Amino acid sequence: MTLYFVGLGLGNEKDITVKGLEAVKKADVVYLEVYTSKLVKCDKAKLEKFYGKRIIAADRDLVENKASETILKDAADKDVAFLVVGDVFSATTHVDLRKRAGELKIKTKVIHNTSILTAVGIVGLDMYKYGRVTTIPFDNKNVKSPYEVIKKNLKNDLHTLVLLDLDPLHDKYMNVKLALEYLLKCGMPAEQLCVCCCGVGSEDILIKFGEAKELIKKEFNKYPQCLIVPSKMHFMEEEALGKFKI
Ligand SMILES: C[S@@+](CC[C@H](N)C(=O)[O-])C[C@H]1O[C@@H](n2cnc3c(N)ncnc32)[C@H](O)[C@@H]1O
Repeated sequence: MTLYFVGLGLGNEKDITVKGLEAVKKADVVYLEVYTSKLVKCDKAKLEKFYGKRIIAADRDLVENKASETILKDAADKDVAFLVVGDVFSATTHVDLRKRAGELKIKTKVIHNTSILTAVGIVGLDMYKYGRVTTIPFDNKNVKSPYEVIKKNLKNDLHTLVLLDLDPLHDKYMNVKLALEYLLKCGMPAEQLCVCCCGVGSEDILIKFGEAKELIKKEFNKYPQCLIVPSKMHFMEEEALGKFKI
C-alpha cells in the first residue's frame, strides 16, 4: 500500500495541510516521529483527539533500527502515515526511510509543510542570504564547528540559522541563553547582533533582536527556540529587525 510522509508544520494540530489531513484520515496506521522536533503548542494526545486516531510514537530507535519490523512492515499491506513536525525532509532527513520503502516496492507519497528553515523568514532577513545551517548540541564541551560555521558565513556576508539541540521525549530543549553562553565561550564578540526566535509558527511567537550580551540577560520561555546570527544587512533588513529590538 502507501507510506505517506506528512509534514505537520510548526504550531499546533491545525497546521497540517488539507492533503496531509486526508492522508491521516485514510491511514490504517499512524506514526509520529518524536525525536527531531516538537509542535509549539500541541502534544501527541491532542493530535490523536484532532484526528480521532491512535498514534504510535516513533523514536529514533524505531525509525532508524526497527522500521522493517514496524513502519515498513505495516506499509507492505496497509496505508501508513508517518508524521514529522515541520517539513518532512528538513534538517534531519527521513530520506533513508523513503529509500528503504522504495527498495521494498512500497509506494510513498510526500506531503510537505512549512519548516523552521523557511519560517524564520518572519524576522525579515533575506532568505537568499543565509549560509550553512548549524546545530549546537547539548554536549558541546569540545565542539567548535557551530561557531566555525557562523564565522565562515559572516566572512561571506551570509546570515546563519543556529538550531538548538532538543530531546522531546524527555521534554528537554536547549534555550537561546545556553546557546549564547556557548557561542561567547567559543569567542563570539559580546557585541555580535543576534536574533532569538521562540515558538515560531504559534500565536505566542517571540522574537528579540540585539547584542548577544543584552539578549543573554533575558528569559525566553517559549519552545522550541533557535538563534539567527545576521551578517551585513540591507537597510530593509535592518528596518524589519528593528521592530524586534530589545
Ligand atoms: C531538527 S530541527 C526541525 C526540523 C523540522 N523537521 C522542521 O522542518 O522544522 C529542530 C530544531 O529547529 C528549531 N525549531 C524547530 N521548531 C521551532 C519553532 N517552532 N520555533 C523555533 N525554533 C524551532 C529548534 O532549534 C529545534 O531544536
